[in-house]
Parts: sequence; structure tokens; C-alpha cells
Amino acid sequence: MPAFKPPVPACSEITPKQLYVNRRHFIAGAGAIGLAGLGASGALAALNAKKSGYTVADTITPREDATTYNNYYEFGVNKGDPAQYSGDFKPLPWKIRIDGMVTKPIEVDVEELIATMPLEERVYRFRCVEAWSMVLPWTGFMLSDLLKKVEPLGSAKYVAFRTALRPDEMPGVSYPVLEWPYREGLRLDEAMHPLTLMAVGIYGEKLPNQNGAPIRLVVPWKYGFKSVKSIESITFTDKQPETSWNMAASSEYGFYSNVNPERDHPRWSQASERVLGTGGGFFGGGARRDTEKFNGYGEQVASLYAGMDLIADY
Ligand code: MTE
Repeated sequence: MPAFKPPVPACSEITPKQLYVNRRHFIAGAGAIGLAGLGASGALAALNAKKSGYTVADTITPREDATTYNNYYEFGVNKGDPAQYSGDFKPLPWKIRIDGMVTKPIEVDVEELIATMPLEERVYRFRCVEAWSMVLPWTGFMLSDLLKKVEPLGSAKYVAFRTALRPDEMPGVSYPVLEWPYREGLRLDEAMHPLTLMAVGIYGEKLPNQNGAPIRLVVPWKYGFKSVKSIESITFTDKQPETSWNMAASSEYGFYSNVNPERDHPRWSQASERVLGTGGGFFGGGARRDTEKFNGYGEQVASLYAGMDLIADY
């Protein structure tokens, strides 16, 4: 049985009644609220990464915006909830499992990955389906470098991602606003694309809990909800994976979710975006800019979709 489907599932400002009615439960479970902005171990751990050519020249969004204006529904549906209520979440130690249609399934420790993978810092545009955007300096490694380790079978066509599901540490999962665990998927060629990053840091430091510690996906030419946080497993499959937002509202959130100003969301335009942290105002402020197809990464990724109708395959 699918869980309760909210009438207005928006990757947005919705606050289901049961959430605000039970807000006291959240506050009681909030724990180390003041520490939520700190790195995984409670200290701001610097990461050693080389600068990457995959970097845009746009002005970087202030850290304050990127770490306090978040979507991470496992900690609540309001933008401030993830920073406020993720203090009890324990991102270390953490293992990530890679399995399914592969020759060599593995389970790897994330700290080992941080120590051994070629880390790069890349400044990417990040466009949320809610028509706001940021410019963020991620530290991470190419997902392809991780996926190659398991020797995928030739018949595998997609990868399915799952976020951890920890009711004791994630107050938001008591509410069936999405199908938990949060799940996402990519076609294999999208997953293997050099722009597709497994991020372990932001602003040169390990990811704060609210941004998806200890490891998350970043796919810069797709809407932000494809960038699944706190990943516990990656499974190779020959079927298009189920994704949490598509299960919640399939007419609004498709599998591909490529940034596309020509295809409006059924309830709002996608033609432009507010760039957070620019042009005055905080939280919700920001200058408006025209949205670019594939979020400006068309030169690198348009060929992946040659021959497809991206209005139908949204
Ligand atoms: N991953 C999980 N597990 N849960 C979520 O609610 N929200 C998505 C995505 N990944 C989400 C998630 C959405 S809608 C967006 S816009 C981005 O995370 C936000 O990433 P940020 O908070 O680092 O800006």
C-alpha cells in the first residue's frame, strides 16, 4: 500500500497539519540544535581537494543560505527544519552498499572513500524545482569512479539510490509526506557522466547534516530533488527505479527531471529562478535570472537525450 499522498506535494513550502500540530515533538527531539551547522564529528573538518575545471564563474552563494535554507524532509518540511532538527543524526561511521546487477557487490566505509578517492572541488549551479537556485562549491568524487569498482553487468541500465531511514534520528519520517526511505534513480549513462558527483563536502568542509552528510549525490543539470542525501545504498537494475517524488505526484515530478525552462511545472513556471543570496533580502530574496536548459550544462549533457521528447519525458 502506498503511504498517504499529500494533496500538494511540492518539494516546497507545504506544512502538513500533523507536522505543525506536533511541533513540540520535534523540539523535544532536536538535541544539539546549535551544532547542526558543524561537520560530521562536531568539528569543521577541512577536506583536501584539487580545484576542478568543472567550475562555473558565478558568485558563490553565502554559506549561511546554503546551510540554513534546505530541503531534507526526513527532518521536517520547512526550510529551517533540517538545520534545526538534524543535530541527533549520526553520519559516522557510515557504510555505503553497492549491489544489484554487478559482479562484485561491495560495502565501503565513507571515511575510507574520503581518504582514498580523488577529491575535487567543483562550483556548480544548483536549481531547485521550486524555481530558486544557488551556486555551491562541492567537494567530492565522480560517481563513475565508485561505480566502476563493482563491475556492473552489461544488462544493468539504471542505478537506484536510497537514503538511510532512521526514525530515532530523523523526526520527519514519522510523517508519511513521502515514501521512505527517500529514493532516487539515474539512467546508467547519466550516473557515469563526469559531471555526476558524489559530494562529501561543501565550502571546503565535510557536509553538515542538513546538506546530506556524510555522502550525497549532486547532478547539476537536473532539479535539486534528484540530488539524494545521506546515501546508504546504490543498486544496479534493469528497470527504471521508483523515485519518492514521482511516487508522490507523477504528473509533477518525472523520472528525468532535467532542468527545462520550456516545460513548466503544472503549478508554476520554470522559465526563471531566484538566485538565493543575491540582490537583497535573505531567505527567499535574490535576483531573478532566466533558467537555462539543462541548467546551463547542455553542452556537456544534451547528447544523452538525443531523440527524446523532453516535454513528454520530463
Ligand atoms: N534527499 C533526501 N534524502 N531527502 C530530501 O528531502 N530533498 C531534495 C534533495 N535531496 C531531499 C533530498 C531536494 S527537493 C533538494 S532541492 C535538495 O536535496 C536540497 O539540497 P540542499 O539542502 O543541500 O540545498
